[in-house]
Amino acid sequence: MKIKIRPISKGAKDLQHSKAGIIITGSGSATPSRVLTNDDLAHMVETSDEWIKTRTGIERRHLASPSESLSELAAAAGKEAILASGISATEIDLIILATSSADDLFGSGAKVQSLLGATNAVAFDLTAACSGFVFGLVTASQFIRSGVYQNVLLIGADMLSRWVDWADRKTCVLFGDGAGAVVCQSSISQGNISQGSMEANDSLLGFSLFSNGSQNDCLTLAYEGESQNLIEDVAISKGNYNPIAMNGREVYRFAVAKVPEVIEKALFEANLTTADIDWLILHQANQRIMDAVATRLNIPSEKVISNVAEYGNTSAASIPIALDEAVKKGQIKSGDVIATSGFGAGLSWGSAIFKWGK
Ligand code: ACO
Repeated sequence: MKIKIRPISKGAKDLQHSKAGIIITGSGSATPSRVLTNDDLAHMVETSDEWIKTRTGIERRHLASPSESLSELAAAAGKEAILASGISATEIDLIILATSSADDLFGSGAKVQSLLGATNAVAFDLTAACSGFVFGLVTASQFIRSGVYQNVLLIGADMLSRWVDWADRKTCVLFGDGAGAVVCQSSISQGNISQGSMEANDSLLGFSLFSNGSQNDCLTLAYEGESQNLIEDVAISKGNYNPIAMNGREVYRFAVAKVPEVIEKALFEANLTTADIDWLILHQANQRIMDAVATRLNIPSEKVISNVAEYGNTSAASIPIALDEAVKKGQIKSGDVIATSGFGAGLSWGSAIFKWGK
């Protein structure tokens, strides 16, 4: 059998002599145009704008129409990020689609690849609920640091509206749909190498990731099936996924305890302190969680980026949407240090500290 060896590109040859770092060069986002307000929800379940606003900070959420697909929304965000980074879709080597609500259980990454015309990219889905973007960023950085890939498109996209029980007031007020994306590139291929050294600059300054499956039942979108006999003695399970079920108080307690801790761990790895952070972008689950984390870390509210009022909890999409909006507004500038933390189902949580831009 003949083994085909892929020719080593010029960039990859350079990587043999120096260590590649990751730089984050462009962002994009896409949200459905249709909006459901708190007052609209008050017509559907026993709740009020006041309750939702004071407990969560959420005022409205954007919901995908029945004809909109997760893949299309993800591709729209990805397209913007590619454009912002100044490369073309065919230069993307890898697409990571962080999602828990793919159009297809086999994965939607490859569909996104085809919608983008990213014909040279391999694509896969990564499922880590609301931690998906942070887990995806760390995954992307490993492929780049190892020299395997130079241009990675990371998309966080979710349409949890498909999986919410719209009669359950404890969960239906929280979620919205959306997609956000970033392009991560090798600093070597961008010529971003520290002067006088072979060490490439690396914008992912530190990270820390955790899972605790023993608390898995706090937040689920779980399969449930019934036994069906195919032949005598051979049974399989036939069923469906149940809507999102959440122990809100437990998840709240978990987030407020673990998120400051994991950010401090990532900062320690980065050899930084909270004073070095320009912006804090947390998973947009609840304004009260964001306020509590910022207070615990002694980070002033002006440094906390929040758009939870507009979109609610968009799961894996929430951090990259907030990041993209802040970049577009000119709040986040090249060289700014951003602390992010995603947390949610799994339970899973993580933090990444990175520098924005080339
Ligand atoms: N409207 C009015 N009343 C409500 C509503 C509502 N929408 N929902 C619950 N209530 C009631 C409850 O029934 C309860 O009434 P009771 O005291 O008579 O039983 C009362 O309000 C208080 O309920 P709590 O659950 O204690 O309310 P809490 O202040 O904890 O707020 C919330 C609930 C907003 C869900 C909060 O617990 C929370 O934000 N938890 C974290 C959720 C989260 O961040 N998830 C992120 C991960 S998502 C992912 O990974 C996919």
